[in-house]
Amino acid sequence: MPKDINRDLYTEETILKLNLFSECFRAWYPVFLHNPYVKGLVIFDFFAGSGSDANGTPGSPLRLLCEAKGENKQNCLLAKNKGKDIQFIFNESMHRKSSSLAINVDKHFRLCKKKHSCNRCTYEEKTIVDNKEFKNIFNLEGIGDLLSDKKYGKFILLDQYGFAEVNENVFKQLICAPGTDFIFFISSSYIRRFKEHPAVKKYFDTRTINFDTSKPAECHREIAAYYKTLIPSNKEYYLHHFTMKKEPNYYGLIFGSNHSLGMEKFLQVCWKHDRYSGESNFNIDQDYEEDTLFYDPTKTNKMARVKKILENDILSGKISGNADGLKKALINGCLPKIFVEVISELTKNGRINIIGDFNRQATNIHKVKKYQIEVPS
Ligand SMILES: C[S@@+](CC[C@H](N)C(=O)[O-])C[C@H]1O[C@@H](n2cnc3c(N)ncnc32)[C@H](O)[C@@H]1O
Repeated sequence: MPKDINRDLYTEETILKLNLFSECFRAWYPVFLHNPYVKGLVIFDFFAGSGSDANGTPGSPLRLLCEAKGENKQNCLLAKNKGKDIQFIFNESMHRKSSSLAINVDKHFRLCKKKHSCNRCTYEEKTIVDNKEFKNIFNLEGIGDLLSDKKYGKFILLDQYGFAEVNENVFKQLICAPGTDFIFFISSSYIRRFKEHPAVKKYFDTRTINFDTSKPAECHREIAAYYKTLIPSNKEYYLHHFTMKKEPNYYGLIFGSNHSLGMEKFLQVCWKHDRYSGESNFNIDQDYEEDTLFYDPTKTNKMARVKKILENDILSGKISGNADGLKKALINGCLPKIFVEVISELTKNGRINIIGDFNRQATNIHKVKKYQIEVPS
C-alpha cells in the first residue's frame, strides 16, 4: 500500500507537482473560456485525494477551483459573461477521503462566497465529488460522451499513485478525445527497476522501453518516449514530460495536447521551472550551473541539441516552412522561439533563402503567417 499522501505534509516535490498542475490549468482555462466554439468546459481530477495535506495545505481539487476563480474573480466573471457550461468532476476511490473532499469542497465554496460577497457561485452547482475506482468512472458512458464531445474543452488530471492506471488503453482514449489536454503523474523509477516483473509487464510492453542502465536520471524521458510510440504516426499530437527527482528516485509528469497552443502553454510552465532543459527539477543535461565560469542559460545542452536537429532538418529539406519548424521545436520540448534563432543564423550565413515575408512570430504558432524556406543548391 502506498503511503497516504494526504495524511502527512506534502513534500517539496509534491508541492512542485501541485504547482505545475495549477500553472498548467491557469494557462489553459482562459484560452477555453474565450473560445467561441466551445460550449462548455469539464475539469476532471480523477485521483483527487481528500483536498489537503495534514496541515491544511490545499491539494489539486481545491487548487483547480482557486484557479477557476482567478485573481479578483476575473475568471468567474468571464465564465458568467461567456455563459459557458462549466463542470468540475472530482473523484477519489477511498470512501473516507472522498467524504473529506466533499466537506473541503463545500467549505471552499462557503468561504469563497463569503469573502467575495457572492450569493451564488457559478461553479458550485456543477461540481461533483465522486467515489469510484478510476477504471469504473472513466468507462462510464456519460464520461465517454463528454470526452468525445467536440463542443466541450476538457482538462484532465490523473495524479495516480504508481504507474498502473494510465495504461496503453487509457492513454489511447485520452489522445483521441477532441479538445482535451491531460497531465498525469507516473513513478518512472519503479517501472525501470521492475521492468521484468509480471506486475509491470501486465501494464506496459516493457520490451519497447529503452532504459539506458548508465542513465537512471533519464528513465522518465524514456517512459515519455514509450508513450509517444503509442501515438499513430499520422496524428498531429504533442506530448511533453517533466522529471522530478526525489532522493534516488525519479517520478514525472506527462502532458498531452492535440493543439500546439496547449503545448506552448505547458512548455512555458516547464521552462519557467527549468531554464536549462525545460523538463526537470534538477540538472538533467549536466549544464554548467549558475555561479560557475561557463554558465550560460541561453546556450544549454538541450537547446544546442534541439537547434542541431532543427538545422539538420532545414538543410535537408525536411522542414520547408516556418509552420513546420515551429512545431518541430515544440515536439522536441523547446519553445518555438528557438526555431526563429536557428533560421536567423542560417539566413545570416547565407545557407538558406526565405520565400515570402520573414517574421519572428514564435507564440500562438497555429496562427503564424507562413513563409517557405529554400536551400540553395
Ligand atoms: C497521489 S494521490 C492524489 C493526491 C491529490 N492530487 C492531492 O493533491 O492531494 C492519489 C489518490 O488516488 C486515490 N486512488 C488510488 N487508487 C485509485 C483508483 N483506482 N481510483 C481512484 N482513486 C484512487 C488514492 O486514495 C489517493 O488519494
